[in-house]
Amino acid sequence: MSPNQEPSLHPNPDSPSNPNPLSPAQAADLQQRAIAVARHAYAPYSHFRVGAAVLLSDGTIVTGCNVENASYRLTVCAEQAAIATAVSLRGPQIRIRAVAIANLNDTASQPCGACRQTIHEFSTPDTIVFFPGEGGTIAQATIADLLPAAFLLTNS
Ligand code: THU
Repeated sequence: MSPNQEPSLHPNPDSPSNPNPLSPAQAADLQQRAIAVARHAYAPYSHFRVGAAVLLSDGTIVTGCNVENASYRLTVCAEQAAIATAVSLRGPQIRIRAVAIANLNDTASQPCGACRQTIHEFSTPDTIVFFPGEGGTIAQATIADLLPAAFLLTNS
């Protein structure tokens, strides 16, 4: 798979064997929340406003947006902002059922590597990530597909 190619859909959302099905209404709600929070983004440097809505296994939905900084490298991504808020609200045991990521630039965009690792930390292999695909579509993949070789700390 070339770096810019979207991962294949897994699990197929229409498959009866999908272990983590979100209803179309749930997926649409998560998407709308990601778009809404992206309007709060602080992105004066990239002008790339991103929102993330995280659905936890207990049904809680938490959102976050990117917050940039003049020093650039201190920028916080939307996914990381949302997940930090989720842990703050619900504690360290949270599990992410799904994440919707949106941007206001109408452009295809996959979650960055650091965000994949952050999502992975609180995920199951079935955690679904929705992100802007080509041509205005919403692509989806499991976190296992997006980050098949996550860093794991094995000496703890
Ligand atoms: N950004 C995110 O919020 N999430 C990602 O997964 C990728 C990038 C933000 C960081 C920065 O503020 C802007 O998008 C451009 O990279």
